[in-house]
Formats: sequence, C-alpha cells, structure tokens
Amino acid sequence: MESPECKQRPSLKFQVFNSPFYILWIIVLIVLFSESAVMIVLSFLKSFLSPNPFLHFILLFVFLFPALYFFIYQLLKFYQSQREETQNLNGKDSELLKRLQEQKMKEIEVLVNSVAHEVKNPLAIILQGIEYIKDKLKTEDGNVGLILKYMTDAIDRADNVIMGLLEFAHFSKFDMVPSDLNSLMEKALSFMQIEFDRHRIRVMRDLEGGLPPVQMDKKKMERVFINILLNAIQAMPDGGTLGVKTRLKDSGEAKRAVLIQIEDTGIGIPKESLDRIFGLFFTTKRESGSSGLGLAISSQTMRTHGGTIAIENRVGSPGVRVTLTLPV
Ligand SMILES: Nc1ncnc2c1ncn2[C@@H]1O[C@H](COP(=O)(O)OP(=O)(O)OP(=O)(O)O)[C@@H](O)[C@H]1O
Ligand SMILES: [Mg+2]
Repeated sequence: MESPECKQRPSLKFQVFNSPFYILWIIVLIVLFSESAVMIVLSFLKSFLSPNPFLHFILLFVFLFPALYFFIYQLLKFYQSQREETQNLNGKDSELLKRLQEQKMKEIEVLVNSVAHEVKNPLAIILQGIEYIKDKLKTEDGNVGLILKYMTDAIDRADNVIMGLLEFAHFSKFDMVPSDLNSLMEKALSFMQIEFDRHRIRVMRDLEGGLPPVQMDKKKMERVFINILLNAIQAMPDGGTLGVKTRLKDSGEAKRAVLIQIEDTGIGIPKESLDRIFGLFFTTKRESGSSGLGLAISSQTMRTHGGTIAIENRVGSPGVRVTLTLPV
C-alpha cells in the first residue's frame, strides 16, 4: 500500500533541470567553459601586445565567474536539500522511496563530478596563460601585475570551490581505517604551527593518552581539524590561546565515543550567525577570500563518520568552543 507521505512529497524526478531558468544557465556555462573559452585565451595570448589586451580576460571573467558561482551554488543547495530529505526519511517511508532518493543522489553526484571536471580544465588553461603572460609581458604599467594577481587569486578561489564541491558531495571514497586520534591531531597542529607562530597564538595541549583507535578516513578527518584550526586562527589575528583537548567519553559500552574540543580566545560568533555557520557558502570573511565551505564540509564528514560537531561561544570568556565526537 502506498504510504500517505508518498503523495505529499514532491516529484522525485531530477529537479535540477526542471526549470528553463536552470537550462539557460547550464547553456551559458557550457558555452563559457567550452572551446570558446579556450579560444579566447589562446587568441589573447597571441595578441597580448595589442593596445588593450586585458579586455578579453576581463570579459571572460565578468561572464565566467558569476555563471560559475551561480551554478555551483544552486547545485550545492539542491544537493544539500536532497541529502537532508534522504536523511529525514525514517522507518515510516517506503523502501521504494528510499531507493528512488538514493538513485537521484547518484545522478547528482555524476552531474557534479562531470561539471567539476569540465570547469577545472579551462581554469587550468587560463592559469597557464596568466603565468605565460607574467613571464613575457614587459610594461611600465604597475596595475598590470596587480590585475594578473587578482586573476590568479580568482582562479584559486574558483578551484577551491570546485574542490570543496567535490568533497561535499563526497566523490572521493571514504577510506576508513582504525586510527590514533591524538597523533592525527598532532599532525594537524604541526601543519599549522607556522600560522600559530605568525599570529602569536599559544597552543595548549591536553590530549588523553591511551585512547582506543577510531575508525576514520584520516585525510578527511585531518581536513576537519585543519578547517577548525584555521577558523580559530582567523578569529585571533592579533594572537591568543588555542586549547586542544581529547577525552574518552564512556557512558556505557554502547555509547563509547572520543571527544575532541578545540577552544580559541578569538572574536566569537554573533548570536544571529550561530545557526547559519554550517550552511553552504555562509561566511563573514568573503572579502579575505573565504568561501564558507569549511564547516559545511566538516559537518558532512563528521556525519559520515557517525560523529557530531557542535560550535558555541564560550561562557564567561571570549572565543569559541568546537566539540567533535566520534564513536569508538
Ligand atoms: N572559531 C571561530 N571564531 C569565530 N567565528 C567563527 C569560528 N569558526 C567559524 N566561524 C564563523 O563561521 C563562518 C563559517 O565558517 P566556515 O569555516 O564554514 O567558512 P569560512 O571560514 O568563512 O570559509 P572557508 O572555511 O571556506 O575558508 C565563518 O565565516 C565565521 O563567521
Ligand atoms: Mg573556515
């Protein structure tokens, strides 16, 4: 018998392409990232000594980046809503509904994967073009170097968004192995040591010895730690203290978990932002090049490990406390 909830749910058809609006944007994107984009770059390379060589590039950027961001943003939003819908399916939903939902997620993964692939190649060509121009162009105009730098930064940002997108939609498989959490944390901390020194941040370690091994994808978990450490550093530009604590939380055999707490003494998070910080593309640091993907990806990774992430302002002192748990 059909579950009543089935009737209430919107169509399970692949909705990304349902509106002409999306189709228009996809056409725009395909045109921009296809051969024509490459041709524009190549023709620019040939004519880089002409009076206004940057016009081609500027035109390319004006059209390319809004299209890229808009498309990726829509795609990710859609992906997230579908994920949440899948996760909200509970025992009452029919098996058929779950299977359709999973099928739809797979289709989205394939789409995201191919879009990311198509976008990365033209970006790499543009980047090579910029490097070539940097070497060859001799000009008195000091702005030229600056413009080339802005372009390189913009490409780096777009590349980061694409990498984040791939990670968020987890295309690369999770490689779960029993791992020592403390040594992974030590590795992440030593990776960030230069930044701690640069910002005069003191690191206080309180890592419990003898923790049981935790099943995890080490690379992905390290990325979570680094995302959180980076946020803490960015919240303490003029120095502060970073506290890192690990503990075994033993509330009965069935609920054993390890707990990781990372605290900073930084600017804290305004109350009104607290429930938005895990959202895709939510950032208060856009002008410094942040894309607002760090916590969205981190919470996704924690969920995939059967763990949790919680972020709160510290009580009675400035700064933020991030609490992660992982089952053991
Ligand atoms: N330790 C922290 N202190 C203060 N604010 C924080 C902290 N951690 C996160 N935030 C807030 O949460 C927002 C979202 O964080 P998130 O890591 O997802 O994105 P981001 O750091 O802005 O960009 P990205 O990580 O993609 O470079 C941040 O822009 C910041 O406003
Ligand atoms: Mg971040």
